[in-house]
Amino acid sequence: MECTDRQPYDIVRDILKVIEELNTLKDVDSILDKVLGEARTMTHADAGSIFLVDDDNLRFSYVHNDTLFTGPGASKHLYTDYALPINEQSIVGYTAMTGEILNIPDAYELTGDEPYAFNKSFDEETGYSTRSILTIPLRTFQSRIVGVMQLINAKDNCGLVHPFTNDDIQYAPLFANSASVIIERGMMTREIMLRMMKMAEMRDPMETGAHVQRVGAYSAEIYQQLARKQGVDQLTIKRKKDTLRLAAMLHDVGKVGISDVILKKPGRFEPHEAAIMKWHAVYGAALFANTTSELDQLCKDIALFHHERWDGKGYPGRLPDDLGEVRELCVQELAGEDIPLAARITALADVYDALISQRVYKQAWPEEEVLEEIKRGRGTQFDPEVVDAFLDIQDVIRAIRHKFQG
Ligand SMILES: [Fe+2]
Ligand SMILES: [Fe+2]
Repeated sequence: MECTDRQPYDIVRDILKVIEELNTLKDVDSILDKVLGEARTMTHADAGSIFLVDDDNLRFSYVHNDTLFTGPGASKHLYTDYALPINEQSIVGYTAMTGEILNIPDAYELTGDEPYAFNKSFDEETGYSTRSILTIPLRTFQSRIVGVMQLINAKDNCGLVHPFTNDDIQYAPLFANSASVIIERGMMTREIMLRMMKMAEMRDPMETGAHVQRVGAYSAEIYQQLARKQGVDQLTIKRKKDTLRLAAMLHDVGKVGISDVILKKPGRFEPHEAAIMKWHAVYGAALFANTTSELDQLCKDIALFHHERWDGKGYPGRLPDDLGEVRELCVQELAGEDIPLAARITALADVYDALISQRVYKQAWPEEEVLEEIKRGRGTQFDPEVVDAFLDIQDVIRAIRHKFQG
């Protein structure tokens, strides 16, 4: 979607097409990625970021930078966690507060009369040179500002940076307004999912909101790395990463079906109690039994099979036969590639997080020992290719751990 030398009709038609594509996405991160990507293509911007409103702050939520962030480790920048207050002092804070679009031809040539100042720390830390900036409020139809999009360094065909053009100022906000409604929907979906988790968490003191966010993010990133290595096309990767993150977050939602007597029992389980705990996989799948969408199917696969093992010694394939009406959801013992890929990935993400985090009943293991344990399970407990993809992106994994603590 580009603006240069094109008729307004074509530009608006392209914007509408992108909005239609955006409407198929569910997860807020995937929505932000696409919004930023399209806005950058439209304006030929080298970099950009999106901040979302979080109470009185703007929380840094998404970033692209073609000059700095390339290669497999690029995703780690997505998990940078910082917020800045909504006030006049920063460029994005000013836009969030006033709702004004700011078109700054050169960040280093501000007159000094502006209430806001350019923060040079990012350039100083990375060696990047920010020049032109276009900052746009993300405003829904009810005029609520949900965030701010900042586009950086518009480039011409020779790669030279120039100020954003009049066309950019006209069309990028038009796109941003429609995109804002979709971003708001993505935020609501994430909220609803987190509340479902909260319900499970209230019942099960071992599961926390941070754990499910981490497992969702680890799974999405492991999938992306694995799919890239296998040559899967970019569009498929983005779509699957989107649904996988949400579905992986719900891996243990079936614990709501387990009795409190067992769930909240301090100390070790008796064998029959441990067996009942395992039913959570089947109960979780029962929630998505009548699948109507790709997301539901994925939720069902992950809930049901996230305790299966590559060597076939996991469950629920090996659960006893007294499961009553939910028995029909159980399949034969599964092993290897017969276990859905999404479940093989979530299995690793879940075990990794359980080992490396402190829980009520255990200390956190040192990272080195956790990685040794995972490597030991390569080809027995875990899919070897999933383990390799996971080991490839350790810097991203660490960034996720750092972002979702607690
Ligand atoms: Fe589980
Ligand atoms: Fe878990």
